[in-house]
Amino acid sequence: PELEKWVDEVPRPGVAEPSGTKDGHPHYEIEMREVEQKVHRDLPATTVWGYDGQFPGPTIEAEQGEPIYVRWANDLPDEHLLPEDTTIHDDIIPYDTPGVRTVTHLHGGNVESESDGHAQAWYTRDFQETGPEFEKKDYYYVNDQPPATLWYHDHSLGITRLNVYAGLAGFYLLRSEHERSLGLPEGEYEIPLVFQDRSFEADGSLFYPTEISDEQGGSDESHPDPSIVPQFYGDTPVVNGKAWPRLSVEPRSYRFRLLNGSNSRYYTLKFHQYDESSGETGGDGPSFVQIGNDGGLLSAPVEIDDRLELGAGQRADVVVDFSEYAGETLLLHNDAPAQYRGGMSSSDDDIVSLPEIMLVDVSDDGDSADAPELPDELTRVPDIPVDSVDNERYLTLNGGATDDYGRQLFLLGTEAERDGLKIDAPVTEEPALGDTEIWSFANRSAMSHPMHLHLVHFQMLGRQSIGDYDPDEDDLDLDALKAPEPYERGWNDVITVDPGEVVHVIVHFGEHDGLFNDQTGTYMWHCHMIEHEDHDMMRPFTVLPTDN
Ligand code: C2O
Ligand code: CU
Repeated sequence: PELEKWVDEVPRPGVAEPSGTKDGHPHYEIEMREVEQKVHRDLPATTVWGYDGQFPGPTIEAEQGEPIYVRWANDLPDEHLLPEDTTIHDDIIPYDTPGVRTVTHLHGGNVESESDGHAQAWYTRDFQETGPEFEKKDYYYVNDQPPATLWYHDHSLGITRLNVYAGLAGFYLLRSEHERSLGLPEGEYEIPLVFQDRSFEADGSLFYPTEISDEQGGSDESHPDPSIVPQFYGDTPVVNGKAWPRLSVEPRSYRFRLLNGSNSRYYTLKFHQYDESSGETGGDGPSFVQIGNDGGLLSAPVEIDDRLELGAGQRADVVVDFSEYAGETLLLHNDAPAQYRGGMSSSDDDIVSLPEIMLVDVSDDGDSADAPELPDELTRVPDIPVDSVDNERYLTLNGGATDDYGRQLFLLGTEAERDGLKIDAPVTEEPALGDTEIWSFANRSAMSHPMHLHLVHFQMLGRQSIGDYDPDEDDLDLDALKAPEPYERGWNDVITVDPGEVVHVIVHFGEHDGLFNDQTGTYMWHCHMIEHEDHDMMRPFTVLPTDN
């Protein structure tokens, strides 16, 4: 349906309340439920799945150093809301199990492995059926890491794309005393914004494709029906659960916690002045001043003079000063083509670019108080020392394989198995606790992938052309790398790897410099385009105890 733009106000997600305590710590019980929710004024209510019955789920407000427990209770119906392709991992997923499989991952959480939401630690309603990696009902989040914009979302093997698309995602904001002392905009002037794309039927229901389009190689009759699709691009931008919304602000500074919670889509964002009557964009709006990324604050604020890029799963913590724009309307503009840097042409009818995301109305009342100065130093981000590296891993991103039905597979590989391994091949990444490693992601496929590691936050060392580095022949020469962008510094857990490039990141497994924790066990690393993640672009890694 053709929806009128800019009729609904951007809602603020609710805030979760603990239902009691457990071992002296707050205990949350957050129930996944099917509910009807109004996504747009003119659309009948949409059936979604929400944590606590809300899409997006309620924000968990956590404090550094104060652990919490969460029971992510599954109270979903017996049948999936969306068509399931039962050929995906059908050797390791019991598709005939009654009920809907769910498991929740705290994305960016430095978490014990039993509470990490392993893709095979799924469970159905009331824990009636559980997956092979299921260990406990109450997840423990120690919250011993820098304050950051984290988020939680479903992670069950083979159906993560459907569960997240149905609505199972929310914010988890970790705060600290130090962060509060910085004088950043807070309270009503701090707004979490999750960008997602969806498609709707005229009756309001969510549409998720079940056939591969011809352009995506779908003419092959042997594909299962329903079939997983290579990527998903919706035709409607949805911000905090509202389609084509608008946000009212005062002429002052705001702090936005931006999250790309889309299945596949990239965003490159910028504010423009906007004339609503003509629909014309004008000059530049206020710039983003980035103060943090996935894993916490940057050491210093960075003004983004071009566009802010967000791959699936990535966060940006930004301050925007609207004081010069009193009385104006601004457009949050996205110019990322749906197929980001490579892949199919964006003229493909099935693949929709979404240039217009949200309007911002800046009031002209209120006193346009001078924007408070941001501190020059936000926090200390100690560099992980390169001379402490214990191991280097060359990890490939490949697009060359197909599955039993002729569908393209993106596989992750190693130096020895460059063409890639499937998810159930034995673990090949086994750092020891206390080790520092360089992971070099070499993208041999034709499109960008946002690569994510659970458990840890890494630091970006730089990028180079794939032809310039082969670990069999070359030593890694850090001086030869293109340096990270200022906003790629600090702690990250998702990094975009473009086609034909190698991106090197340095990561420490375990506590260091008073940050993060010693955790051992098995975690996942994967592409965060969820259609890729579900279709084998995901691998386990295991942190081994040091005495092993
Ligand atoms: Cu946000 Cu393994 O994911
Ligand atoms: Cu990918």
